[in-house]
Amino acid sequence: MPERTQLNDEALVERGQARAELHRLLREKRVVVTAGSGGVGKTTTAAALAMQAAMEGKKVLCMTIDPARRLANSLGLSEMTLDKQTVPAELFAAQGLELKGELCAMMVDTKRTFDELVEQHASTPERRDQILENPIYKFMAESMAGTQEYMAMEKLHAVRQDSYWDLILLDTPPTANALDFLEAPERMVGAVDSPAMRWFIEAFQGAGKFSLGMLGKGAGMLLRAVGKFTGKQLLEEIAAFLVGIQDLFGGFRERASEVSGALRSDDVAFVLVTSPAPAAVDEALFFSEKLSEADMKLGAVVINGVHEAPAAIRPTDALAAELGPHFPGHDAKKLLQAMHQSLEDERVRGLSDRNEASRLHGAVGSSTPVVEVPELETDVHDLRTLSMIASHLVNASV
Ligand SMILES: Nc1ncnc2c1ncn2[C@@H]1O[C@H](COP(=O)(O)OP(=O)(O)O)[C@@H](O)[C@H]1O
Ligand SMILES: [Mg+2]
Repeated sequence: MPERTQLNDEALVERGQARAELHRLLREKRVVVTAGSGGVGKTTTAAALAMQAAMEGKKVLCMTIDPARRLANSLGLSEMTLDKQTVPAELFAAQGLELKGELCAMMVDTKRTFDELVEQHASTPERRDQILENPIYKFMAESMAGTQEYMAMEKLHAVRQDSYWDLILLDTPPTANALDFLEAPERMVGAVDSPAMRWFIEAFQGAGKFSLGMLGKGAGMLLRAVGKFTGKQLLEEIAAFLVGIQDLFGGFRERASEVSGALRSDDVAFVLVTSPAPAAVDEALFFSEKLSEADMKLGAVVINGVHEAPAAIRPTDALAAELGPHFPGHDAKKLLQAMHQSLEDERVRGLSDRNEASRLHGAVGSSTPVVEVPELETDVHDLRTLSMIASHLVNASV
């Protein structure tokens, strides 16, 4: 049997309080962002919190960038789509759950969001088309590092203007490094507005037409030399793109700082998700420092997938003798030894999780609630298992 006695009454009260605080966050904030390193349970946490708030009566939009079908499946949808989908109330009813509000899910399309941004900021329809049709733009919109993170925030910013939603849950991209997300707006501006880029633009600006032949002598020669290696057409495409994107500079820089500023407002809270693995906890602590340096609010920390430490058993001869008749034909002592070893392994893991949880509690301080969610025996694959996760996140009955 799992040994729960390791948690004293005080710790149990603290757990209850942490859940109540996360619950309050869910009731009071307009935007909740789940962040953390890959695979720790961000998507699961976002979906469970969204589901909980919707059941309690809110109109909730759960936005994800992670195209994993699992989120869709656990919400009862066959797949995640780019247009928002409503989770039918019958799916809740089928699980014996009452839905008082509304739950919608949506996947953010990076390329589409970027296109919309270009459409809004280009000065003329010609400039707009020039950018949208440029192969370099297409590459950048889909594959440049940080684009996905930035576009997630961009979309959030847009959706927030829609007063229909009481609560928006943003599940951040499955990046290995959670910090990528915070730094995305600055990085996007940096990439577009770097000295190297400016040099290119100056070189091409005067030409008016995107031909290498019309460039200033020095730049033209240099680029022609590079062109031998990279392909003349590619260079011309880059030139065309840079001139086009320059058109967006003012609007884009302003927009990025607006987007990153919006994440600092009082109605936004970050929920930092981590596993109890020591490296993940280290990263979560580092992330929480960065959040506060960036003046963004850490609303709560979720330690997901915590293992309980089972009580130790002593493999005595008496126990082996007791076990023997239940497993005829087996060596009871060996069997007991194997059981003992596997329980010991679990205990070591459970104790390590306990240590890591204490370390995290201590480091974030008492002002930030730290909520623990146990490792469930099954994968989180439907509304029922999702509601089990929710019941560990907030004080609510399943
Ligand atoms: N508490 C839990 N117990 C059991 N399985 C879990 C738990 N939390 C998450 N999972 C499973 O772990 C995997 C990763 O979770 P996910 O939410 O996709 O992580 P992330 O979004 O951070 O990459 C999924 O298969 C999910 O079902
Ligand atoms: Mg995810």
